[in-house]
Amino acid sequence: MMGLASRALAHFEARTTDLAEEVMQNPVEAYTDPERYAREREIIFKTLPLGLALSLELPEPGSYKAMTVLETPLLIVRGEDGTVRAFLNVCRHRGARLKPDGCDQARVFSCPYHAWVYDTTGALIGCYGEDTFGDINHADYGLTGLPCAERCGVIWVVLDPRGVLDIDEWLGDFAAELDTLKLSEWHLHEQRELPGPGWKVTIDGYLEVYHHNQLHGQTVGQMTVGNLLVLDTYGPHQRLTFGRKTLGSLAGQPKEDWQPDEHVRLIHSCFPNLSISGILGDHCLVSQIFPGPNPDSTITVQSVLAAEKPVTDQEKKQTETFSEMVLTAVRDEDYPVGFGIQAAIHSGANKHFVYGRNEAAVQNYHRWVARFMEHGV
Ligand code: FES
Ligand SMILES: [Fe+2]
Repeated sequence: MMGLASRALAHFEARTTDLAEEVMQNPVEAYTDPERYAREREIIFKTLPLGLALSLELPEPGSYKAMTVLETPLLIVRGEDGTVRAFLNVCRHRGARLKPDGCDQARVFSCPYHAWVYDTTGALIGCYGEDTFGDINHADYGLTGLPCAERCGVIWVVLDPRGVLDIDEWLGDFAAELDTLKLSEWHLHEQRELPGPGWKVTIDGYLEVYHHNQLHGQTVGQMTVGNLLVLDTYGPHQRLTFGRKTLGSLAGQPKEDWQPDEHVRLIHSCFPNLSISGILGDHCLVSQIFPGPNPDSTITVQSVLAAEKPVTDQEKKQTETFSEMVLTAVRDEDYPVGFGIQAAIHSGANKHFVYGRNEAAVQNYHRWVARFMEHGV
C-alpha cells in the first residue's frame, strides 16, 4: 500500500497518470455486431470462470444461491462438507426449475413438479412413487454439475458443464491481491439489480477515472482525484488505484507517519465482469455486469458491503449514505450516459471509439477480449 500511495502521490504532484504506449482505436462494430456479440458471449462469458457469488452469501452448510446468468439457471450450494458446488437449477426428470432465484438455506432440494429430491451434492436421493415410475439408475439422474471453485472469498463458476476450471491458473498472482481484501469477512448490507447499457459501454466506465470529475462531481468524484490512475495488471485482471482528494496531504509528511489506505482507493477488476471497489475504507461495492441477450443491454448486480454489520444509528446511517451514493453514481450518472451512447451508436458519428493513453485499463480490457476471441481460452 505504501508503494501505491507513493506512486499516486508522484502523479498527483506532477499532474500525471499511468499511461499506455499509444492512443488506441476500436471499431464501433466491436460494440454493435450481433454475431460477434453472440460469439463473445460463448467464448468469454461461457468458457471463462465468472465470479458469481460471494462466499459470505453462502455462510454455512446448506446455504444456497439460485440465480440466472446469461439465461442459464444456476444453483450454487454449500454442502454438508463445507464445499461449494454449482449445478444447473434444472430437474433431471422433466426439467422444472428447482428453486426460484434468491439465497436461502436447504437440507435437500425437492422439485416443485413431481417431488424428486436432491441432496446438497446434487445426488438424486428420492423419486416420488418410484414403484410406479419404473426402474431408473439414480446415479444417472443427479443434478448437472458445473465447474466451480471457491477462492479469495468469491465463488467462481464456468457456465458450461463440459468446461474446465483451474482457478489458480486463472487468477495467478491476482489471487494474493484479492486475498488482501478479506472479502469473506465483510457484511452484505444490500444487493440490487440495475438495468444498464451494453456490455462494453458499461464496462468501459468501470475501467477509467478520466470521467470522475466531470460526471461524478457531486458523488464519488468528490472523493477521488480525477484522471489519476495507478495501474497494475495480472494477466487479464487489473488493479486500479485512484487517489483520494486528501492524497496531497502526504507530501512533506515523513513516510513513517503515512496511513496510505486513507489516501488511495483500490478497484480490483476481475476479467471479464467483476469489479470490487473499496470507495471508503469500511465500505465496498461489488459489481457484476452480466451481458444481456443483445449487445445493447446488461444487468448489473450491485452488492454493498460493510466491514462490520452496522449496529449503531450512526453506523447504519454511514452505510446507507454509502449505498445511496454508489447507487446514484451508477444509476443516475454512469448509466444514463451509457444509454445515450447506446442510443446513438448506430448514428454513424463514430466509425471507431478511441481510448486515450490515460485510459490504459480500458485498452487492456479490449485487447484481452480480442486475444481470447482470437486464440480461445
Ligand atoms: S420435473 Fe422435477 S420431479 Fe418432475
Ligand atoms: Fe463512473
